[in-house]
Amino acid sequence: MPNTPAKIGIVTVSDRASRGDYEDRGGPAIRQYLDEVMASPWEAVAKVIPDDRDTIAQTLIGLADDVGCCLIITTGGTGPAKRDLTPDVTIQVCDKEMPGFGELMRKVSLEKVPTAILSRQTAGLRGNSLIVNLPGQPKAIAECLDAVFPAIPYCIDLMEGPYLETNPDRIVAFRPKK
Ligand code: MTE
Repeated sequence: MPNTPAKIGIVTVSDRASRGDYEDRGGPAIRQYLDEVMASPWEAVAKVIPDDRDTIAQTLIGLADDVGCCLIITTGGTGPAKRDLTPDVTIQVCDKEMPGFGELMRKVSLEKVPTAILSRQTAGLRGNSLIVNLPGQPKAIAECLDAVFPAIPYCIDLMEGPYLETNPDRIVAFRPKK
């Protein structure tokens, strides 16, 4: 169905944002990024959850299997602190890891901050969903997504998901086979 909006999950993983100790800035930054970049219809399904293993797993599984998100972008919980569990749970719920995403995001982030190596961010495939982890810093969101987004529509094509189109002034989607 060409006009059915593609569902994209936006998951902020943060104990403090989920308790309301501070305002979630990561989720809205991802939404704004997608508003600028996406040219085909899409719909956000946003969640703010604590750094709790079961909650992260249930949220990712629900967005992938029940809501039918073709893409799920998480922010936060990728670092070395004891409660930073997002990449671990991502790998746990995925059928396949996509390590190139984390490798590239760390490479570009390292040009901005030496602490980029502290992020264990990765990506993986669960069923028909691509799950991509971003660090919790709002400014890391565009830095990381600018690097990997050109490959995301083709990844979703290969997974037989919706045909995502991007605004070429912002991101040119690379599709090797037209
Ligand atoms: N990547 C980018 N692009 N920009 C950043 O500011 N912060 C780093 C790193 N990656 C950062 C970044 C820092 S300081 C940490 S501790 C790790 O991401 C993990 O952050 P998280 O636990 O909030 O996910």
